[in-house]
Amino acid sequence: MVKSLRGMNDILSEDYQRYTYFIKIASEVATRYGFHFIETPLLEETALFKRSVGESSDIVGKEMYQFIDKGKNDVCLRPEGTAGVVRAFIQKKLDKAGGIHRYFYHGSMFRYERPQKGRLRQFHQFGVESFGLESVYEDASVIMMVSDILKELGIGYKLQLNSLGDNNCMPQYREKLISFIDSCGNDICSDCQRRKDTNPIRVLDCKNSSCKKLYENAPKLLQNLCESCNDDFTKLKGILDENNIDYEIDTHLVRGLDYYCKTAFEFVSDDIGSQSAIAGGGRYDRLIEFLDGKPTPAVGFAMGIERLMELIKMPDDSRDGYYLGALDDEAISTIVSATQKLRKTSKATCDYKKRNLQKHLKAADRANAQYCAVIGSNELKDATIWIKNLQNKTEETISLKEL
Ligand code: HAM
Repeated sequence: MVKSLRGMNDILSEDYQRYTYFIKIASEVATRYGFHFIETPLLEETALFKRSVGESSDIVGKEMYQFIDKGKNDVCLRPEGTAGVVRAFIQKKLDKAGGIHRYFYHGSMFRYERPQKGRLRQFHQFGVESFGLESVYEDASVIMMVSDILKELGIGYKLQLNSLGDNNCMPQYREKLISFIDSCGNDICSDCQRRKDTNPIRVLDCKNSSCKKLYENAPKLLQNLCESCNDDFTKLKGILDENNIDYEIDTHLVRGLDYYCKTAFEFVSDDIGSQSAIAGGGRYDRLIEFLDGKPTPAVGFAMGIERLMELIKMPDDSRDGYYLGALDDEAISTIVSATQKLRKTSKATCDYKKRNLQKHLKAADRANAQYCAVIGSNELKDATIWIKNLQNKTEETISLKEL
């Protein structure tokens, strides 16, 4: 039997209901914050991700689904959404137009990681990108948007916050950190030896327990910020305090992608095991310029939908529409016509075979219908239909016309 590839799952039945419910809530919240939907291709030039996510990141270094297509182009399935949205923004010359542009998106991302619970090779993200605002109020706003989405879904979280500095303070900090790493000699793991030369701050994110212990004494990012980054970070904390958003400061939060500066954040859940990050994001003011656009400040986040699907509390009223069934053969064509009429305004399905009431009720339940309506030969004579509301369990016989 041919099976799906490792780390690539089907989404159907109850999972699909959760998936669409999540997309509905997240899209509604993003729209309330002034964001518009954008869709970008799954396949992009490999160079886009090398230049944005960064050659030193694990994503580009080890995890890309990269191949040469029939036209001999070096292409890659997108490992994340930000790079494609930025490319579209520049390609449509919106960077030159100026102003504020806010987008949200959702869809498949691909990373060749070692699959485990909560870590897939094809997974789905919901993300937003905001272009044109330098103000730290926008950082706070996208953080509050994640919080709103999670609250509407009944999901508890912890918010971790850090600042990665900017072009002004980061170079000096890097030098300090490199001296510190050098002082650790060969006590650090081989990955950290490599990171020291490619992107030293990524060592702070190392999962190796002996490295972690050593880095407790590393110089702290937050103690090495320039005045303007420090002011922004203080202001950000103040805005979150004012809006009752709890957070923890994590000076070792550096994120796995190279494009960030200043604000970096992650939302984690204690209820889904080791892959606990449910959303992550931050500011990336240099990326647009780096991809040959006009310098434009930007901030955004992405949420991992599979991880969230485990945590979503579906409302009891998620039932929707009608299921119609016939108790006798001669009622079948009547229920097919009635279903067809209902479809003008509602979700409606029907069964083409006669069955007993219990079987129809079960089928209506499986279809997640709000109403189960059946017709037998008696109802047919009176032009009536028996209908049960599967949500509040009430039942009645009404005229077919009324239905
Ligand atoms: P990221 O932290 O790489 O950020 O991914 C965001 C979220 O996607 C994670 O917090 C996690 O929930 C989910 N995720 C990542 N990898 C996997 C996986 N292998 N399996 C299942 N879920 C996964 C980004 O992708 C940035 N583009 C976010 C961003 C947008 N920053 C600014 N704008």
